[in-house]
Amino acid sequence: MNKLPPASPLRFTSAVEKIEPDEAETHAQLVETLLKISTTTYADGHKALRSVHAKSHGVLKGRLIVPELPAALAQGLFARPGEYATALRFSTSPGDLLPDSVSTPRGLAIKILGVKGERLADVNGGETSTDATQDFALVNGKSFLAPDAKHFLRSLKLLAATTNKAEGLKIALSAVLRGTEKALEAVGGESGTIKGLGGYPETHILGDSFFSQVPIRYGDYIAKVGVVPVSPALVSLTDQPLNLNREPDALRMAVRSHFMGNGGQWDVRVQLCTNLDDMPVEDATALWDEEKSPYITVATLDVLPQDSWSDSHQRAIDDAMAFNPWHGLAAHQPLGSIMRARRHAYPASAEFRLGKIGCPFAEPKGP
Ligand code: HEM
Repeated sequence: MNKLPPASPLRFTSAVEKIEPDEAETHAQLVETLLKISTTTYADGHKALRSVHAKSHGVLKGRLIVPELPAALAQGLFARPGEYATALRFSTSPGDLLPDSVSTPRGLAIKILGVKGERLADVNGGETSTDATQDFALVNGKSFLAPDAKHFLRSLKLLAATTNKAEGLKIALSAVLRGTEKALEAVGGESGTIKGLGGYPETHILGDSFFSQVPIRYGDYIAKVGVVPVSPALVSLTDQPLNLNREPDALRMAVRSHFMGNGGQWDVRVQLCTNLDDMPVEDATALWDEEKSPYITVATLDVLPQDSWSDSHQRAIDDAMAFNPWHGLAAHQPLGSIMRARRHAYPASAEFRLGKIGCPFAEPKGP
């Protein structure tokens, strides 16, 4: 496959987004539904949790290394060579703390510190002009399960109704769905819904690749972002079976055991949009054709051996940090219906957590 950026990537203008007239109502209902999830888990005796991606499987400190790049790729944070302190958090998608035998899609959130440049416009509970971070919140699949915020709201309402209910049933259902997913994959198919409900294959999380699924502005252009394991020890874990039924926190234990003795490197890659018909901004379910525009490496994430579940890492990253795709540079403005909804959802969930913990989050100002 061609690994050069496409010859004529589409130039970013604000006209690539098509804003629906009733989006504000959808955003309000999304926030209400998310807070219902957090309120339910809190009332059930958990500490205040993220509304989704509540369970953390490891938190790491690392470095992002940006090399000299060709002009089309040298954009935003990646415009100049540099090195940045970075925090990483692995998660799974539900808003409740389920045993890992309920196997669901995985997330990787990344916070890059000490980033300079014009910030995204202030949002309630989000940015301030003195912030200096660039966040990415990624999931291990290349496209999102719903085309837009309105469709996603329908799924989220169903999911919210199951929060903290019938854990035994979820475990049993997960095992059945995993079988169904394997059968589907054997005939070349795959179902986001089955995976999301607990039918995710039982594999090692550190072998996974993670994607933005939806686009961001990439300086003069538009791109989706991917993070792909490249160091041999991580690559060897790709699709490696992991028994998630013996221990409720099997994923966390696997991550911890890996990083106690090993480091890891991931490539950060971008896929540039060439035209909106093939590579739409507003339809989050659309897979962008990698023959027409492959993911190209623009940086490396480097993590040294460390305790990925130490008390200090948990406090500093799991508890005290809020990851949010709208924390970042104006040059990396999140784009499309799903991204516009996330602008309201993340601060609401973070503020709920903060309100219960009792102290405001402070975005790290430097490394
Ligand atoms: C309308 C769609 C979406 C909504 C409403 C939504 C909402 C949220 C919320 C409220 C949180 C918790 C934030 C916090 O308390 O700090 C969260 C976390 C997260 N979301 Fe989303 N999300 C959406 C789409 C996506 C997409 C498309 C991805 C990636 C492809 C994604 C990846 C993540 C990840 C990785 C986290 C965990 C962040 C962390 O580790 O702190 N989300 N999401």
